Amino acid sequence: MPRDQLSSNDLSGTLLAWYDRHARDLPWRVGPQDLKAGLRPDPYRVWLSEVMLQQTTVAAVRDYFHRFTALWPTVEALAAAQDADVMGEWAGLGYYARARNLLKCARIVAGELGGTFPDTAEDLRKLPGVGPYTSAAIAAIAFDRPETVVDGNVERVTARLFAIEEPLPGSKRDLAERAATLTPQDRPGDFAQAMMDLGATVCTPKSPACGICPLSKTCEARADGIQGDLPRKSPKAAKPVRHGIAYIARRADGAWLLERRPDKGLLGGMLGWPGSDWSAAPEADPPLAADWREARGEVRHTFTHFHLKLSLRIAEAPDDALPSRGFFLAPSDFRPSDLPTVMRKAFDLASSELRAD
Ligand code: ADE
Repeated sequence: MPRDQLSSNDLSGTLLAWYDRHARDLPWRVGPQDLKAGLRPDPYRVWLSEVMLQQTTVAAVRDYFHRFTALWPTVEALAAAQDADVMGEWAGLGYYARARNLLKCARIVAGELGGTFPDTAEDLRKLPGVGPYTSAAIAAIAFDRPETVVDGNVERVTARLFAIEEPLPGSKRDLAERAATLTPQDRPGDFAQAMMDLGATVCTPKSPACGICPLSKTCEARADGIQGDLPRKSPKAAKPVRHGIAYIARRADGAWLLERRPDKGLLGGMLGWPGSDWSAAPEADPPLAADWREARGEVRHTFTHFHLKLSLRIAEAPDDALPSRGFFLAPSDFRPSDLPTVMRKAFDLASSELRAD
């Protein structure tokens, strides 16, 4: 049956029945059975998970979510945390502005808002780090508001259901409008999560499992045999390559020379190695006088808008070295896991080269 002959009600009912049986078990989720039994999601956990899930996969987020909620079980606890502790726990998740906004938001909710999250998308959107996607997701999932939640999974499912051939990102608005026509008044929170789960487990990017899809009969792309080709994507511009220099110094007592990066800009607020800007022709003076040598290997890391090739200069720092920037962190105060991924790669390479000496 073509899509337009099947009402949105039928479609949402069919998908909700599928979700009742196949909902993923996720640490921040109150599943459909528990929800029917009267359990309600904790808005703090929904908010935290949705901020973590922006641009990051469920698989990558799980462990971080467990650690954060073990350390900071409530929004008040998170609001009272030290910035450096939160940035350290976020290390490796990427997009570090999210962590800075997370703290700002927690402090507003725990302070001005008396510990209660707003319960509409409109009010949620006023919070730092909460944009159109996240406000809709929290309103739907935590408060069962009939908001339409459009992430990459939902775009793919929608593009296929309606056989939208226009490529992303140009088709974003059309996809969001079509997705909105599907959102039911009944159980909108479960419906939003069902769309995401369907996209993640059945309507996957490559080789979608149409044989087990509850919506296959209404899927226009499937009827046309083009489901695996959608959504089409406009070609992306090639990423430029930038270069950088990082200085990695270790003192005989095992302390490392690190610095806290400025809040604004890439990896803002995170720990890192002193060094150059990342550009076509980087230059930076060493942060202290020592016998610096070039590391044999280099670090490569890809950011959203460029590839980085980072060369390392490494040295054993004299005991009385006075750095012109940064500070020495004793081994007892330094966890390599507090470093963002590119800095962690540099640490691993430098450690192996220093050990090999
Ligand atoms: N991706 C983003 N938010 C999600 C959620 N609440 N459930 C499953 N996948 C998601």
